[in-house]
Amino acid sequence: MRTQVAIIGAGPAGLLLGQLLHKHGIDNVILERQTGEYVLSRIRAGVIEKVCIDLIDEAGVGARMHQDGLIHDGVQICVDGVRHRISFKDLTGKSVMVYGQTEITKDLMDGRAAIGAPTVYAAYDVALHNIFGETPHVTYRADGKNHELQCDFIAGCDGFHGISRKSVPPNAITAHERVYPLGWLGVLSDTPPVSEELIYVHHPLGFALCSMRSPTRSRYYIQCSLAEDVEAWPDERFWEELKPRLDDEARERLVTGPSIEKSIAPLRSFVAEPMRFGRLFLAGDAAHIVPPTGAKGLNLAASDVRYLSHAFIEHYKEKSNAGLDRYSERALARVWKAERFSWWMTMLLHKISDNTFEQKMQLAELDYLFRSKAASTAFAENYVGLPY
Ligand code: APR
Ligand code: PHB
Repeated sequence: MRTQVAIIGAGPAGLLLGQLLHKHGIDNVILERQTGEYVLSRIRAGVIEKVCIDLIDEAGVGARMHQDGLIHDGVQICVDGVRHRISFKDLTGKSVMVYGQTEITKDLMDGRAAIGAPTVYAAYDVALHNIFGETPHVTYRADGKNHELQCDFIAGCDGFHGISRKSVPPNAITAHERVYPLGWLGVLSDTPPVSEELIYVHHPLGFALCSMRSPTRSRYYIQCSLAEDVEAWPDERFWEELKPRLDDEARERLVTGPSIEKSIAPLRSFVAEPMRFGRLFLAGDAAHIVPPTGAKGLNLAASDVRYLSHAFIEHYKEKSNAGLDRYSERALARVWKAERFSWWMTMLLHKISDNTFEQKMQLAELDYLFRSKAASTAFAENYVGLPY
C-alpha cells in the first residue's frame, strides 16, 4: 500500500490532520492501535479555544459543535470560599467553547467515514522505518497479516505512550519534564452544573474544578494523591470531599448523583524537542504533555496540526519545503507558552507544599490576579489562546 502521509494514531491530532489533508487532496492513511469504540470511550477535557474551533470548521466537521457547544465569556476562581470572576470577553474580546473532546473525536471520525478515507483500527506492532531517508515506510499487523505502508512522510500523532517518539535515536531528541506529586480524580455525572461558568477552586483541602459538558451533564475534579486508587472512591466519598472546597452558593446548588465515569489522571509537564526528524513529524501528545489545569492539551494538538497541515499543503501544492523546515520551531514556540501557562496555573491553584511561605505566595499572587487589570488580562489572553 502507498500513501502520501502515513498518520500514526486516531486521536484528535491524527483525525484532524487527516481531515485537513484530505480537503486539500493529500492522500493519507491513519493507523490506530485501539478499536474505534475504545478511542471514543476516553473522557478528556472540554474547553476549546477560538483557533481550535476555526480549525474544526475548516476540517468541515463543526456543525454539531456549533449546535451543542457552550460559549463561555469568562471563568470563576474560588479562593478559600470566595468567588472571583475573570471576564475573557471584557479583557480580550474573545471567548472559549465548552465541548467535550470525546464529541470532537466522534465528529472527526464521522467526517472521516463520510469521505471514505482509510483508517486501520486495531493496527498492532506499528513500526517506523527509514525516517531519515527519502522513502520512509511503516509496517504493522492487522487482521492477522503483516502489512507495509509506503509514504512520503509520517505524522506521529500517537500520544504520549506512542511508538513514533520512541522510534527516534535517543541522541537526536531532548526531553524536558516536570512530574507533579498529585493527580486529578474526575467524575462525570448527569446532573446540572453548579454554575454557568467553570469554577477553579483553591482551598486548604486541595484544588477542585467544577466543569460541565452540557446544561444537564457535569464534570468535577478534586486534587488527589498519586497513590490513590479509584476503587476506593465510591460516589458518596467524592461528593463529600468536593463540598467543603466550594463556596456557599455553589455548595447549595450542587446536585449530586451517580457517576457515569470516574478516573484518576496524573499531572505532568513534558516537551520533546525537536518535533521533526527527517520525514517524521510529531504532533500533539506524542511531543508534549501539559497538566490539565487550563485545558491546553487538545488546543495544543490542534495548534500543531494547523502548522503541520499548512506545511504539507505548501509542500504538495507550491513545491516549497519552507513550512516543513520551520514546523518544529514554530510549533514549539507556541507549545512552550502553553506549557508555561499550564504549569503556572497548576502551581497557583493546587495544594503542593506544606511550606507556609509558599502558600502565602499563592494567595498573594491570586489577590494580585483579581485586583490588577494587567494580571487578569495576562490570564485571560492565555486562557482564550495566544495568537499564532
Ligand atoms: N500505534 C498506533 N496507534 C497508537 C500507538 C501505536 N503504537 N500508540 C498510541 N496510539 C494511538 C492511541 O491509541 C490514541 O488513539 O494514538 C492515539 C493518540 O491520541 P491521544 O492520546 O488522544 O493524543 P492526541 O491526538 O495528540 O490528542 C491530544 O488528547 O490526550 C489528550 O490531553 C490530550 O487533549 C489532548 C489531546
Ligand atoms: C473539563 O471539563 O474536563 C476540564 C475543563 C477545564 C480544565 C480541565 C478539564 O482546565
